[in-house]
Amino acid sequence: MQKGEVIVFMKSTLNKLKKQQKLAKTQNDIESGSGAEKPAGVLEDDDSSDDGVGKLLAGKDIFHWKDVCYEVQIKTETRRILDHVDGWVKPGTLTALMGASGAGKTTLLDVLANRVTMGVISGGMFVNGHPRDQSFQRSTGYVQQQDLHLQTSTVREALRFSAYLRQGRHVSKQEKDEYVENVINILEMQKYADAIVGVSGEGLNVEQRKRLSIGVELAAKPQLLLFLDEPTSGLDSQTAWSVCQLMRKLASNGQAVLCTIHQPSAILLKEFDRLLFMAKGGRTVYFGDLGENCQTMINYFESQGANKCPPEANPAEWMLEVIGAAPGSHANRDYHEAWLASKERQAVRDELESMERELVKIPKDESPDAHKEFASSLILQYFVVTKRVFEQFWRTPAYIWSKIALSILASLFNGFSFYNAGTSQQGLQNQMLSIFMYSITLLTWINQMLPNYLAQRDIYEVRERPSKTFSWIAFLAAQITAEIPWAILCGTLGFFCWYYPVGLSSLYCWY
Ligand SMILES: Nc1ncnc2c1ncn2[C@@H]1O[C@H](COP(=O)(O)OP(=O)(O)OP(=O)(O)O)[C@@H](O)[C@H]1O
Ligand SMILES: [Mg+2]
Repeated sequence: MQKGEVIVFMKSTLNKLKKQQKLAKTQNDIESGSGAEKPAGVLEDDDSSDDGVGKLLAGKDIFHWKDVCYEVQIKTETRRILDHVDGWVKPGTLTALMGASGAGKTTLLDVLANRVTMGVISGGMFVNGHPRDQSFQRSTGYVQQQDLHLQTSTVREALRFSAYLRQGRHVSKQEKDEYVENVINILEMQKYADAIVGVSGEGLNVEQRKRLSIGVELAAKPQLLLFLDEPTSGLDSQTAWSVCQLMRKLASNGQAVLCTIHQPSAILLKEFDRLLFMAKGGRTVYFGDLGENCQTMINYFESQGANKCPPEANPAEWMLEVIGAAPGSHANRDYHEAWLASKERQAVRDELESMERELVKIPKDESPDAHKEFASSLILQYFVVTKRVFEQFWRTPAYIWSKIALSILASLFNGFSFYNAGTSQQGLQNQMLSIFMYSITLLTWINQMLPNYLAQRDIYEVRERPSKTFSWIAFLAAQITAEIPWAILCGTLGFFCWYYPVGLSSLYCWY
């Protein structure tokens, strides 16, 4: 039980867990008296989780963007949602993206992660000084605000799925499995690693789901950057803190992290290294270091004429008040204009220019796999996705049973309605009608398929396609393949229940 919710395991896993419990108990009995006792049945909490982080590959590439604008056409007017945003994310830093609600934070993440489908984007986004290429999407991880996962898979399976398909072709399966175990350790998910994702209330709780969302992206080993969109929203402060600690841990180990965050408490904000602060309309107000206790940022705003930040105030709330984005507050000047004229911005522009000049000198990874759209081959995608669909069917037996029931009952009903139709003129007409009715059942079959199919498609369209996990060809082929065995079984059962009652078999002998 976790916070009044139930974690669901598969029967086979439960049996295994019980055996482990028994084993631990007997061992405890033997060892009792010597050494510290561990409570039986409680899976060991791995204290070496920090080592696990160390094993995650640290990125080395720098991502920077310059003069990024984004405009959408709304009826006849053009609306600018991002206005000349500059910035960069370096490996090992944790950058916060903040702003009032509707400032364009999510839009900026989407634009940077190459996930917008409409509107006009201008400006440059570079990886090591080179424009982004086809492989960009799969070399970044994007933890979305909503936690979308397939209900029927377990935590470990979901992580492995991501690792198998999104890590490079040259990585062996064993290495990927080990990597997944590392991710489980880092995210402290050992206790529910074999639990079914399930639905809320019967399955993982909100925090566990968030951890899984982060885990799925980590398992893909994003070389370049990890985006997180409001990972702490909707979590209680304790959980928000632990998610924040986790991001810190990842950043300290060399991962570059860019994270939007909504009204963080002062202690959460302290964990971040840099801040990109935006006002309404995607206008930058500040991009720079936060400094010890956010002092660098506070100094900047105070030098621009803001009221002094009281020592007990939360800097995150204070700066929203300063720029007039907090409810009931007024800005004493336009801080976007102030930023444009400030020497801090000039320093940012200089740094960007020097990056553009210097980074291109780093040799580009020219291996043929490095720039492909998908990390794994189509064949592998097909096999892994097909396996997942088969599992999904197997674990929703209601679907299989209703398929079987439909084919048997509809066929029997049809068969006995035209029982022994015979070969008179009326009989032959009845046979024709019966055959027609038999084919009509297929439409009901399609209706039965839809709910399962939609669950898969939602996840594919919202999460897996944008992150280039697998191609739509593999997706559709897997859906079709998984239907075939059941279609053969149900078709055969249905055929016997219909063909013999109508008397088509005797007809055949008669001629
Ligand atoms: N495709 C679009 N077409 C029209 N308007 C858009 C589009 N995308 C975003 N916007 C507008 O841009 C603004 C910024 O949206 P965005 O979701 O990025 O804000 P946000 O900073 O993430 O806010 P929140 O804190 O509520 O998540 C909003 O006013 C939104 O209505
Ligand atoms: Mg948002």
